[in-house]
Amino acid sequence: MTEIIDGRALSHKIRQQLKQRTVLLRARGIIPALAVILVGSDNASQIYVRNKHRAAAEIGLATQDFKFPDTTTEEELLELITKLNVDPKVHGILVQLPLPPQINAAKITAAINPIKDVDGFHPLNVGQLFLNDPQSLPCTPHGIMRLLAEHQINVAGKHVVIVGRSNIVGRPMAALLLNADATVTITHSKTSNLRELTQQADILIVAIGRAEFIKKADVKPGVVVVDVGMNRNAAGKLVGDVDFTEVEPIATAITPVPGGVGPMTIAMLLEQTVRFAERKIG
Ligand code: GUN
Repeated sequence: MTEIIDGRALSHKIRQQLKQRTVLLRARGIIPALAVILVGSDNASQIYVRNKHRAAAEIGLATQDFKFPDTTTEEELLELITKLNVDPKVHGILVQLPLPPQINAAKITAAINPIKDVDGFHPLNVGQLFLNDPQSLPCTPHGIMRLLAEHQINVAGKHVVIVGRSNIVGRPMAALLLNADATVTITHSKTSNLRELTQQADILIVAIGRAEFIKKADVKPGVVVVDVGMNRNAAGKLVGDVDFTEVEPIATAITPVPGGVGPMTIAMLLEQTVRFAERKIG
């Protein structure tokens, strides 16, 4: 029987624990707070941000909401970030990506105070992660590591193939896995023998953003599959980057979409913000 890796259940468990930690913080006069900056009217981003606010409120985390129009300039954003960077009441700062084209996302990310960088996207945090001394972890890859650990899936010595090389998932995922002694292959849209490589995976992590891209023939029987995708297929159904119906029967374990990786991303964001707030009493 294939194990279905339930991200909702683990996310729920983690958020229950976080509730207790925010109670302790508040008892010490610290209200853990996350500033969320959203620029423009991207539909998916608006939904993500709304979900982040709701989940934060549920565990007793305060949020500050900053919404900017599509026409916002880099200077306006930098001005706000500069203020939040030194505001002692703000423990975490998140700028929802993607940003409109006139704004240089790398410049914005680098402007965030690294000790408040809850996404782990600041170059200092990226560097420390790759040097195996992480201070802030990107939420989605961190959530995947926690899901694997929860299901006693040890990555040490395993061949993990990642499909996708984004700064948000693929690259930091590779670093986390290397730090955990996995053998890592990163493939992407320009990889000529991509499907040959995915067939060799003991653990396959797919974040390429194409609906049902990975088929049964692309994996070896017994594989563990982690699907980071969130796409609508031709029928309008929410599906991952893996063809679940085809691949599930031959996998040892697999994450569903929805209800797999997605809920873990938010749980890790909340956990990291609470951890940052706890440094105040460390
Ligand atoms: N856009 C898509 N995923 C993320 C994420 O994890 N953090 C931020 N800030 N933006 C995103």
